[in-house]
Amino acid sequence: MRQGILERYRAHLPVTDKTPVVTLLEGDTPLIPAQNLSKKIGAEAYELYLKFEGMNPTGSFKDRGMTMAVSKAVEAGSKTILCASTGNTSASAAAYAAQAGIDCAVLIPSGNIALGKLSQALMHGAKVISIEGNFDEALTLAKEVTAQYPITLVNSINPYRIEGQKTGAFEIVDDLGEAPDFQFMPVGNAGNITAYWKGYKEYCDRGKCINLPKMMGFQAEGAAPIVTGKPVKNPETIATAIRIGNPASWQQALRAKEESAGAIDSVTDKEILEAYRILAETEGVFCEPASAAGVAGLIKYLKAGKLEKRIAKLRIVCILTGHGLKDPECAIRTIEKPASIPPKMDALKKALGL
Ligand code: F0G
Repeated sequence: MRQGILERYRAHLPVTDKTPVVTLLEGDTPLIPAQNLSKKIGAEAYELYLKFEGMNPTGSFKDRGMTMAVSKAVEAGSKTILCASTGNTSASAAAYAAQAGIDCAVLIPSGNIALGKLSQALMHGAKVISIEGNFDEALTLAKEVTAQYPITLVNSINPYRIEGQKTGAFEIVDDLGEAPDFQFMPVGNAGNITAYWKGYKEYCDRGKCINLPKMMGFQAEGAAPIVTGKPVKNPETIATAIRIGNPASWQQALRAKEESAGAIDSVTDKEILEAYRILAETEGVFCEPASAAGVAGLIKYLKAGKLEKRIAKLRIVCILTGHGLKDPECAIRTIEKPASIPPKMDALKKALGL
């Protein structure tokens, strides 16, 4: 029988016999060997894997944190959860609240959330409130209202979210038998890089791995406060999931970078879209644009010859944080429109180039 992450990693999580397990059987996502991609981007000197977090129940990595945060909220007697979100957190919070039978409210930046994510939050019955501002402003409001009312904040500043999300690192080590040498991933509010680093360190402390990976986090160029060292007032990127100008876990992300001797860098929207398309075309893996930021970063580092190489192949894992179907509009905008023809054999032959 399939288990969610709370059962699978119970010994490593703040769960007791009294914790009601609110689960959609998240986690256990595939770690896909990516030989085609490797060839395409000139990474043959490495062993390259994709951790496809789009395969979680609501289509993003947020489910790992949400099963934990919602279970603890219910344990504490909370009847309502709330979050600010660029989309995925709201979809996940809404789904787990539905499963738990509690209320959920989500604050989203108006006009800047992918349609798939919005439809999820609505379908799961959350109260969706569109804020005429950006994510950072929505998060400030979310913190304020949850400090004043008995509502549980389920953004990643809720420590249970980080606890749940660290299980992504456990799964990678369990699959590879060791931690990878590099982990490439997108960075937005910086909760996930914080969680993975915590996960790797804890698993090594428990003797499950010896090495720790270099943490390589990538922000979008128009929303890269950690790279430039100052908050971005009006963040802009096509990757709306990481359109964040003042990340909540900024300091923790810097610590992960420094402790792991990794990097936090930026990639352009053009580089993100290129990686997004290459992933879909060469590996058959369709992720959302923000998810491709890590792979875009890998391509950038390979091109610049910035990545350490050894005779024995070093292992690279890229975290693909969300599913491409979350944002079909971006895909359709990015690629050629399908040909439209009359229902005639002649026209079909012409369209197929026969
Ligand atoms: N990738 C996707 C698909 C995301 O939705 C997010 C964050 C990230 C990467 C970045 O992760 O914030 O932990 O650094 N989405 C949040 C949300 C902000 O509201 O759904 P992070």
